[in-house]
Amino acid sequence: MSGQSSRRTVLKGAALAGAAGLGVAACSTDSKLGHAQTPTPTAPVPLGAPDEVPVGGSKLYREQRLVVSCPAKGRYKAFSAQCTHAGCVLDKVEENEGNCPCHGSRFDVTTGEAIHGPATVPLPEVPIRVENGKLVAGPEAPRA
Ligand code: FES
Repeated sequence: MSGQSSRRTVLKGAALAGAAGLGVAACSTDSKLGHAQTPTPTAPVPLGAPDEVPVGGSKLYREQRLVVSCPAKGRYKAFSAQCTHAGCVLDKVEENEGNCPCHGSRFDVTTGEAIHGPATVPLPEVPIRVENGKLVAGPEAPRA
């Protein structure tokens, strides 16, 4: 008797787990799995005042996993700040060189290029623009 009821409980649990699994698959871009997170934004990311990025220099937005450089006044380039080796987020940028704290890869943050291994794949570029006086990276907001 008790054996039967526990088997039913297990089956019910399995059915629930299956449904939850489907739910995860349907919104995988919002994964909270850390390193497995999509390296580039899937929605617009506001970054604040454009003049926080020095002309000829760059700025790391660690929380947003982005690095932005400014090759000339009013022009911006953005790349993912997630290392292409194993997915750690860069911890600092010095003289336009981004450093990965995990295994020492370095990237030219003005081009995304990996200049020191173990990473060999460039950082993916991210669209960036100035909207209402603020830097915004990532895809345009979908029009309703
Ligand atoms: S994760 Fe960046 S060097 Fe390994």
